[in-house]
Amino acid sequence: MLPLRRRQRRRLRWGLGVPGAAVLLACVAACALAERASAGRASALSAHFGTKSRYEDVARPRPGPGPAGPCAPLQLVALVRHGTRYPTAKQVGRLRALHGLLLRAGPPGPGLAGALARWPLAYEDWMDGQLVDKGRRDMRRLAARLAARFPLLLGRAGLARVRLVSSSKPRCVDSAVAFARGLWAHLHPGLPEPEPADMEFGPPEINDKLMRFFDHCEKFLTEVEKNDSALYQVEAFKNGPEMQKIIKKVAAILQVPPSDLNADLIQVAFFSCSFDLAIRDIQSPWCDVFDTEDAQVLEYLNDLKQYWKRGHGYAINSRSSCSLFQDIFHHLDEAVEQRQRSQPISSPVIFHFGHAETLLPLLSLMGYFKDKEPLTAYNYKEQMNRQFRSGHIVPYASNLIFVLYHCEHAETPARAYQVQLLLNEEPLPFVHSPETVAVYQELKDHYKDVLQSCHSDRECVLPNINITSDEL
Ligand SMILES: *[C@@H]1O[C@H](CO)[C@@H](O)[C@H](O)[C@H]1NC(C)=O
Repeated sequence: MLPLRRRQRRRLRWGLGVPGAAVLLACVAACALAERASAGRASALSAHFGTKSRYEDVARPRPGPGPAGPCAPLQLVALVRHGTRYPTAKQVGRLRALHGLLLRAGPPGPGLAGALARWPLAYEDWMDGQLVDKGRRDMRRLAARLAARFPLLLGRAGLARVRLVSSSKPRCVDSAVAFARGLWAHLHPGLPEPEPADMEFGPPEINDKLMRFFDHCEKFLTEVEKNDSALYQVEAFKNGPEMQKIIKKVAAILQVPPSDLNADLIQVAFFSCSFDLAIRDIQSPWCDVFDTEDAQVLEYLNDLKQYWKRGHGYAINSRSSCSLFQDIFHHLDEAVEQRQRSQPISSPVIFHFGHAETLLPLLSLMGYFKDKEPLTAYNYKEQMNRQFRSGHIVPYASNLIFVLYHCEHAETPARAYQVQLLLNEEPLPFVHSPETVAVYQELKDHYKDVLQSCHSDRECVLPNINITSDEL
């Protein structure tokens, strides 16, 4: 706890003397480097951990140029994925099965197989996806960097108007609280941290309809989530030549018959390396089992699943996020109207805490990371340079921020409102233009269809439910 505080304080002190942007860059680079140095060999693999990636391994926080001219940020609407977390109970079950397999193979000998058998299972069922200490630090650091970046909106005076919205999952609520505490600590350097209840913010508002829209979309649940054949590309890739090669190789290393292994066990063995690195900051011998080529194949397996379940694979994946998209624009509209009437902005800062499954559909709905060809079991090689790389899009603590600016002296009143999108703290060019700043009205025009005619409740209705009379 203490070193973190000290670092934040130091960061703040730097901030007083030197222009903010330079400081932010220097600190971010230094912090990322320090963390990367401890990674050792695992760092060669860590670009391929997909949704299990550490933020500092893949994100490149960069202060982008905001809108030209005298512009001030008016509102932040942010979506944040929870920080680093424990494996889910299902993954813990697979880790245990893998460990059991090694122990049954005989007493641990020398070499890698022995090292793996002796490597203790550090995860238990009760941990089931909970936020870990590193996840809390992910959130605190993100809060501190954003406060340094947006001092006008995230200053002490504005704290009371920061709104926190969260999915009901404990890892998200805990992320929201850690973020709020980090923000408070950054703005009150040197002061003992009060209990969250005594800070300016209220508790996070729970809103699963917004943050877990996928649980509320009947069409998505039926056609994708509960439909075994929806992920047939994933199943085909698991049984394809790329995976079979890895299964044989790993079986030889573990000294077990290949028939004892399957793609799911291989994947969890690979995750084992990423979990130990992300959660405990240690390098597990599991990292020595895989080389970069294996890691690329396993990254593709992870991306393939995200693509068909959360991304462009099926239209309903992204259409189910319409209500969230519209909610964001509703906030932006409200801020614009209030500013036009010279009223105070009622919600200048809104942070939503959700999941990779919240962010991926929304980014897909907005048209991002769409490759010309779909990702399939059969085009692994052609997709080597794909845009859809979940590790770069949704690592732990990933975030998408809509920044609404108001600019003085605009040519027309409508042009006074401009927007910038930040993905993982880096300006994200728009789908409709290579720029990283857009006139708000032009952005709305680009998304006119989604804003006007996409309504989750309508999109999510199941088509032709044929209930015949004898079924009634
Ligand atoms: C399940 O997915 C397959 C493949 O997309 C599709 O053809 C089928 O209609 C789906 N089943 C249901 C019940 O929606």
